Amino acid sequence: MTETTAGPLAETPGLPAPRDGEGRKARIIAMCNQKGGVGKTTATINLAGALARNGSRVLVCDCDPQGNATSAFKVALLDDEKGPTQATVVVDGSDPRPLVARTRVDDIDVLPASMDMYLLPSRLRETGAALQLYARMLGRLVDEYDFVLLDMRPALDTDTDAQTAAAHAAIIMVDVDEWAMKAVKMQIAQHKKILNLLSRPADSLPVLGMVIGRVMKPMGSFDAAVYKQLRNHPRIPLLGEIPIRSSDLKEARHQGLPVESYRPKSDTAGFFRAIAANAGLVTAA
Ligand SMILES: Nc1ncnc2c1ncn2[C@@H]1O[C@H](COP(=O)(O)OP(=O)(O)OP(=O)(O)O)[C@@H](O)[C@H]1O
Ligand SMILES: [Mg+2]
Repeated sequence: MTETTAGPLAETPGLPAPRDGEGRKARIIAMCNQKGGVGKTTATINLAGALARNGSRVLVCDCDPQGNATSAFKVALLDDEKGPTQATVVVDGSDPRPLVARTRVDDIDVLPASMDMYLLPSRLRETGAALQLYARMLGRLVDEYDFVLLDMRPALDTDTDAQTAAAHAAIIMVDVDEWAMKAVKMQIAQHKKILNLLSRPADSLPVLGMVIGRVMKPMGSFDAAVYKQLRNHPRIPLLGEIPIRSSDLKEARHQGLPVESYRPKSDTAGFFRAIAANAGLVTAA
């Protein structure tokens, strides 16, 4: 993975010409938890960095109208008053490829968010075919990438249902919090519901594992008990944990970069490489 020297590239949308590895069929991974503020976006950006370092081409699909992943890569949000957006291409089936923006990292592109995505749940319901529509949209992009990471918003709603239906696997982000286990349960319930609705087998949407974000140590006895429960979850393996690291993560984000590009020798970058390896997405950490 090399860093480009150019500044923000939001003004040069459109996919780069295919290079080596034509005919890639991306694995679509839902980065999810309907609990807010647990580190989904931070993990998505930095897992993308770890995968790109390993030679993979990665698309980050910013599924959240907040647009934090888009902004973190210094890409402009799309504007429905100026043209098509992720919300419009999902619903009307038109080509999403012109919306894709390059980032400052060669092998990471972003499908930006837009504020009109707050209307997606109702628009998707109106179509009567919601569960097919993200899969259709992302199906137009998978040939160009090895991975599509879905940075999902914290909600169980029609839009996250449709995104889940498009995913081949999921990673659940959690934080050390009283309600963490309940949140994981609800997330799994959403996956089960979607698989049932689509008559798909359980192994068609494996949870690769969970990542505990924003870990602060030492922790009090209550947090320590929650932490232990999460680490020993009976069904979901632990892929890794990210300690609170304001400087590495925030400085990298300020530059529009994953920590892998900004400070590759930091232990923070190493945590995300380990997560990629533990999830089986790369061969070695
Ligand atoms: N390991 C960390 N160290 C320091 N700050 C962190 C860490 N992980 C996340 N943060 C910060 O915590 C906040 C929430 O993180 P993030 O936006 O990644 O969570 P999220 O799950 O995507 O939130 P939302 O549910 O709103 O989409 C952000 O301000 C982020 O910069
Ligand atoms: Mg987020």
